[in-house]
Amino acid sequence: MILCAAMMMCISCQQKVAESTEAVDQENVKNTTMEDLLTRRSVRSYTDSVPPMEVIEEICKAGTYAPTGMNRQSPIIIAVTNKEMRDRLSKMNAAVMGADNDPFYGAPVVLVVLADKNVHTYVEDGSLVMGNLMNAAHAKGLGSCWIHRAKEMFETEEGKQILKDLGIEGDYVGVGNCILGYTAGDYPEAKPRKENWVYWVK
Ligand SMILES: Cc1cc2nc3c(=O)[nH]c(=O)nc-3n(C[C@H](O)[C@H](O)[C@H](O)COP(=O)(O)O)c2cc1C
Repeated sequence: MILCAAMMMCISCQQKVAESTEAVDQENVKNTTMEDLLTRRSVRSYTDSVPPMEVIEEICKAGTYAPTGMNRQSPIIIAVTNKEMRDRLSKMNAAVMGADNDPFYGAPVVLVVLADKNVHTYVEDGSLVMGNLMNAAHAKGLGSCWIHRAKEMFETEEGKQILKDLGIEGDYVGVGNCILGYTAGDYPEAKPRKENWVYWVK
């Protein structure tokens, strides 16, 4: 009888420990997420090294889990690690500005987000994918930056041909280019937040 009671107490004790460990884990996850959201910055200087493919795949996966209007999942991601295509996209992006520099700041990887314009939330859907990609990249220790002008890039004949060559059919509009890689040099600091970001109604 006494042995039985002691065993029950021990089991209940173990459950409590497990529960409290879970609570601590949950707290750590929350803290890490908050930390990542607050410390992600746009990186504009990269090394040449291409990050491991499984890390890039995980970042893409995070993109595919972004919320989308009515779960229509309107965006797609073109994940480019091929240097020739990366350089081609960089040139197309520069051409939109009438420039000939590298708007991808030497980053070896580009994740192009496009979204189906027939879905009325396509811009919002694509933008949230971009956010997930950049935050996931940061969580994985990589630098990233949103590079604009994806819309104009994929309105050109060359852009349309790239989609065709990849077998992508449909009314896809470029939303953003998420460049990725290892940060070269110092990690940028956040600019001060403006006044009156948040208007409280309590
Ligand atoms: C819609 C959008 C377009 C952007 N386009 C560019 C771009 O073409 N080139 C660039 O260097 N940064 C671009 N950025 C990055 C912003 O300049 C950057 O997010 C901003 O300066 C704040 O810095 P932070 O991301 O480090 O907080 C873009 C960001 C957004 C959200």
